[in-house]
This record gives sequence, C-alpha cells and structure tokens, in this order.
Amino acid sequence: MARLGLRLLCVVLSIAAVRSCAPADREALLAFKSSLKEQNSGVFSSWTGPNCCAGWYGVSCDPTTGRVADINLRGEAEHPLPSSRPNQPGVMTGHISSLVCRLDRLTTFVLADWRDISGSIPPCISSLPLLRILDLTGNRLSGPIPADVGKLSRLAVLHLADNQISGEIPQSLPKLSSLMRLDLSGNRISGHIPENFGELRMLSRALLRGNQITGGIPTSIGRMTRLADLDLAGNMFSGQIPEALGKMPVLSTLNLEENTLTGVIPANLLGSRRINILNLSHNALEGVIPDAFGQRSYFTALDLSHNRLRGAVPKTLKTVSFVGHLDVSQNQLCGQIPQGPPFDHQAAASFSGNDCLCGGPLPQCL
Ligand SMILES: *[C@@H]1O[C@H](CO)[C@@H](O)[C@H](O)[C@H]1NC(C)=O
Repeated sequence: MARLGLRLLCVVLSIAAVRSCAPADREALLAFKSSLKEQNSGVFSSWTGPNCCAGWYGVSCDPTTGRVADINLRGEAEHPLPSSRPNQPGVMTGHISSLVCRLDRLTTFVLADWRDISGSIPPCISSLPLLRILDLTGNRLSGPIPADVGKLSRLAVLHLADNQISGEIPQSLPKLSSLMRLDLSGNRISGHIPENFGELRMLSRALLRGNQITGGIPTSIGRMTRLADLDLAGNMFSGQIPEALGKMPVLSTLNLEENTLTGVIPANLLGSRRINILNLSHNALEGVIPDAFGQRSYFTALDLSHNRLRGAVPKTLKTVSFVGHLDVSQNQLCGQIPQGPPFDHQAAASFSGNDCLCGGPLPQCL
C-alpha cells in the first residue's frame, strides 16, 4: 500500500514537472489559427485555455521546456478528427500566417489535405532551425518554394505536392543534407533541376511528377546512393536519359513517362537487377531496344510504349526472371515476337501500333 502511494506520488510529481505552454508560443499558435478557417471538423475548437501543451488538437510540446515542437493537422486523418461528421473530410480556407515562424522550436509542421488553404509558403519557414518535417500537401498554396529552403539543415521530409506552387526549384535545395523524402508532384514548377541535385545524399524518394520542368535530367542524380524512387513523369524534360541512372545502387522505380526525352535507351537500365518499375512511355526515344536484359532482371512493369523505337523485340527479354506488365506498343518495331514466357501472357495491346510486328498474341508472321 505504501509502495503504491509512493508510486502515485511520483506520477503526480512528474506530471507537475511537465512545463505548460510558453506564453509566446501560445500567442503564435493563436495568430496561426486566426488566419485559417475550418468549418467541418472543428480542429481548432480545442485551441482554448492557457496551456497549449495540453489538449490542443494536433499540438505537442517538448515536455521539459514547454515549447511547441509539433503541429500536426491533416484534413484526411487516419484517426477521426474531433467532432467530425462521418465521411466529411476537413476543408480549411485562409492562409499560413508568418507568425508561425515564431515557434522556433518547431520540428514538425504538417498542415496537409485541407484543400483550400491559399496564399504562399511564408519564406521565414526556412529559418526554423529544428524543422525536420514540412508537409503542406494537398492545399491550394501558390507562389514559390522559399529561396533559402536549403538552410533547413535538419529537414528530412519536404512534401509540398498537389498545390499550385510555381517558380523554379531553389538553387539552395541541394544543400538539404538531411533530406530523405522530397515530393513536389502536381504543382506548376518550371525551370531546370539544379545541376548539383545529386548532392542530396540522404534522399530516397524524389517525386517531381506533373510539373512544367524543362531541361535535362542532371547526371549528378546517378551519384545518389540511397535514391530508390525517382519520378520525373509528366514534365518537359528533354535530352538523353543519363546512363548513370542504370548504375545506381538502390534505384528500383524509375518513372520518366510523358516527357520529350530523345536518344537511345541506355542498355544498363534494361539489364539492371534493381529497377523493377521502368516507365519510359510517351517520349521521343529512338534507336533499337537494347538486347541487354539479364537473368536477374525482374520487372513488375516495363513500359516503353509511345516512342520511336525501331527494330525487333529483343531476344534477351525471354531470359528475364519476371515481367508483369509489358508494353512496347505505338513504336516502329518489326519482326517476330519471341515465343514462350514472358510473351505468352501479354495481351495483343502490349504490341499494337507498330510497323510490322507479328507472332505471339498478334497474327502469325507470313
Ligand atoms: C506508364 O505511363 C503511362 C503514361 O502516363 C501510363 O498510361 C501507363 O499506365 C504507365 N505504365 C505502367 C505499366 O504503369
């Protein structure tokens, strides 16, 4: 009994030791809240009272300092939002107040999937020294990515997808030495990728799909030893595919479809043991499909359709250990489709729209 009492006392003391919210942080949070408006889910209704470290939805603090460490507000939360009506995702209007930058102990700032938050990303965000996660996905933010974003030396996650962000990728971005995940998909970003993009040595996912990026694919990307997923689809990239991409140690997904890439397909992309999703469709690639597939290649998807490829379907494709979805349609290929797997289970549509392919799922060769 005495022991239990002691234990209770300890619990009570440790709770009392948790610092309550720093008043300046509370002021900054209230300013942040007042520039936003949310109708459905009532996320901000809990943001009242003096202690912002206790019971304010989506806010958490460093328990020893009482400084705000995380803002985590998602419109499509895994856990139901407070007082949300079932199946009604949150919608927020308004803008992100630059007063949020007064929260200078912030490590996580998530304000994602609220659909209607507009205005620009406050440039002062790049002076938050401890920021590790910045996720503003799925709003209606416009204007540029802050030019000195590269100052965020601890930033591991930069997710700004599905907004209306314009301007170029900042020259400082490759300085983000801790960055592991970058998602800028579905914006209006233009200009070139900085030539030294490959300096992002920690990066494992680079998703830039669906923008208006021009210029070449920087060869420095080939030096990214942790990059597993590169998605540059749906832009205006031109020039050749760097051969260095085929030598990357962990690259497994390469999406380059819907650009204006020219030149030949580097043979090492097809012979790679690691790449298992390769989509090069809807470009202007030319020459023959290199006869360079290998026994240890494994493709869940291999899409070379809608290019200007000539010659035959390469024989070594038969030696590949697995091909799931194959598509070489809408090219200028000719000749007999090799017999046997993986050609047997492919639909005729995978080979249609070529000059003179025959056999396999297509009519027999004459
Ligand atoms: C490759 O990209 C094209 C164009 O976006 C798309 O239609 C196709 O489904 C993709 N292929 C695979 C196998 O995912």
